[in-house]
Amino acid sequence: MPATVLIGAQWGDEGKGRVADWLASQSSVVARYAGGDNAGHTVAVGDKVYKLHLIPSGIVRERVICALGNGLVINPVNLVREMDGLIAAGISITPQRLAISVRAHIITPAHIALDRAAETARGAEAIGTTLRGIGPAYMDKTGRTGLRAGEMLDIEAFAESLTRHIESANERLIRKGFEPVAAGPAVAEYVTAAHRLRPYLTDVSELLDEQLKAGARVLCEGAQGTLLDIDHGDYPYVTSSSPTAGGALTGLGIGPRVVDRVVGVAKSYSTRVGGGPMPTELAGELADRLRGSGQHFWDEFGTTTGRPRRCGWLDMVQLRYAARVNGFTELVLTKLDILTGFDAIQVAVAYDIDGQRRSTPPSTVRELERAQPIYETFTGWQEDVQSARQPDGLPSAARAYVEGISALAGLPLTAVSVGPERDQLVVFPG
Ligand code: GDP
Ligand code: IMO
Ligand code: MG
Repeated sequence: MPATVLIGAQWGDEGKGRVADWLASQSSVVARYAGGDNAGHTVAVGDKVYKLHLIPSGIVRERVICALGNGLVINPVNLVREMDGLIAAGISITPQRLAISVRAHIITPAHIALDRAAETARGAEAIGTTLRGIGPAYMDKTGRTGLRAGEMLDIEAFAESLTRHIESANERLIRKGFEPVAAGPAVAEYVTAAHRLRPYLTDVSELLDEQLKAGARVLCEGAQGTLLDIDHGDYPYVTSSSPTAGGALTGLGIGPRVVDRVVGVAKSYSTRVGGGPMPTELAGELADRLRGSGQHFWDEFGTTTGRPRRCGWLDMVQLRYAARVNGFTELVLTKLDILTGFDAIQVAVAYDIDGQRRSTPPSTVRELERAQPIYETFTGWQEDVQSARQPDGLPSAARAYVEGISALAGLPLTAVSVGPERDQLVVFPG
């Protein structure tokens, strides 16, 4: 059986976790291919809410095998903490159901210190990173000085290279006027984590090949979102990896011919956390209504950092662009319930940039910052949508909205999420 790639179509937090949980019910393996614990994916099942950062959302389903691909940057201490949290919640974590690529790169405390130092140095132009050390870890990877997860198989050599890495990073930190990292305690903590993780280290590409040949369906779970992609996002207000479709192939060591579905996940409106342009951003009462007060776990506050998310109307210029760069075969919309109660709902269908109508996003943030959205207005609805399970269970205005988005995107709609719970999903006939 082939592979499905699931990708955030916006700036992250589209509800990939809850959609991955749904698609995992039709998959044998779920694999993360990019990013690290900058991600925060939420899966709500009954009275339990799982917040996953590194481990694929498929872990919540008992018979699913989960894998962390070579494209990831992994903080071993945080991974062990996440594993322990899941074990405490009653989830089985064994080397039979969790595989970590020997080729994935390692995030160290020095990377975290360098991330903070770089953000401080950027001042008003700070990216607003999650301060998880993501950028510096990928810089070491592409600079060919990184530490790979496979090094944890030889603990003594691992401790030595980690010490050397921290000492070298400390020189950079001191030169820039920042506090160095204490190598001793950091190495001790990482050695303890390495002992725990050793049994899980393997060749993930080989594992996926075997599974695909044996007829398994593999779900490649994207993190972040298309507009945070290092190549296709709003550079430099991006992350340091490739959350887009190509990243799934390089980040897992699979070929393009095994992929038969590329599922784009978009919120029914837009959110962004961190700096960078967001043409449809709202302020005031409308933004507050979309964001929520923070008392529900699904309100628009970061799953990883707790920061309030910037909120705005859906942006079709960006969504069509995401469909193009990823080659989406279908669209899943989430959080439709949040739009209940608005009299009118706006959707950006084009931009006005310096008096010119543009239907594709410009390639520089400077131009994007000048983009004025051109809106199309949809009629709102007052009825509850949370209990809908069939397309005809949706209020007619809500159905017209999601079908309108699907038409504007030029993509078939596979499902619409109408609440955070596993079963709060309207599946559209294929
Ligand atoms: P991810 O990073 O793309 O996995 O998304 P996050 O988990 O960071 O953020 C999405 C939030 O919205 C989570 O709290 C989800 O539980 C919640 N969520 C997902 N789908 C829906 C939905 O249809 N309705 C509501 N109200 N919440 C949802
Ligand atoms: P999930 O998988 C939303 C954003 C950060 C910042 C930029 C760079 O939950 O959708 P980084 O720490 O990666 O160097 O930060 O990217 N960012 C996310 N925003 N959801 C995420 O992940 C994100 N991961 C990174 O806020 O703007
Ligand atoms: Mg998230």
